[in-house]
Amino acid sequence: MNVWIVYDSKYGNNKQVAEALAGLFKEGNEVHVHHAKDISPKEAAESKPDIVLIGGPPRAGMISFTIKGWAQRFARALKSKGLQAGKAGVWGTHGVNDAETPAKFAWANIEPKWKALLAEIPAAKSMPGVLGINIEEKEGEGGLGGVMEAGWKDLVASFAEDVKAL
Ligand SMILES: Cc1cc2nc3c(=O)[nH]c(=O)nc-3n(C[C@H](O)[C@H](O)[C@H](O)COP(=O)(O)O)c2cc1C
Repeated sequence: MNVWIVYDSKYGNNKQVAEALAGLFKEGNEVHVHHAKDISPKEAAESKPDIVLIGGPPRAGMISFTIKGWAQRFARALKSKGLQAGKAGVWGTHGVNDAETPAKFAWANIEPKWKALLAEIPAAKSMPGVLGINIEEKEGEGGLGGVMEAGWKDLVASFAEDVKAL
């Protein structure tokens, strides 16, 4: 199968998620894993993807413009050729939420935006949910970079299984 995994990442966490997913799909598939800035959405769409997985970080309560723009251009490129992906899924990293997290920046605000973005992508089957991964603050870095929650590899593995089973 022709698998595309496209992400945005500034501090490397989403790149790690993308690469972990690539590893989980490599058996028997042709896997393309790219930063959104390095691949044309048209090229990905015209390759007739069987599986497309898209993810990235939030920026001030919104999905990063880089990955949102890529996904929307990808969706338009598929539609303009009368194509659809076989299966589509999305993931998002986000800061750890607590009672002090402003509602706008919280995952509860960002997750529905990912669902809406996924709904724009024509696909025979789409994942019902969004894989969300907590980014924990790294001591002394002011919370902008951070590291993924301890169990992130298990979350990614279970997401990959769900995509395969769609
Ligand atoms: C400018 C900026 C804005 C951010 N806004 C949010 C936000 O609204 N909500 C949130 O949960 N995390 C926010 N974050 C933290 C990101 O979740 C975190 O940096 C990102 O998930 C790390 O992904 P990466 O390592 O792939 O770049 C923000 C980070 C930056 C740099």
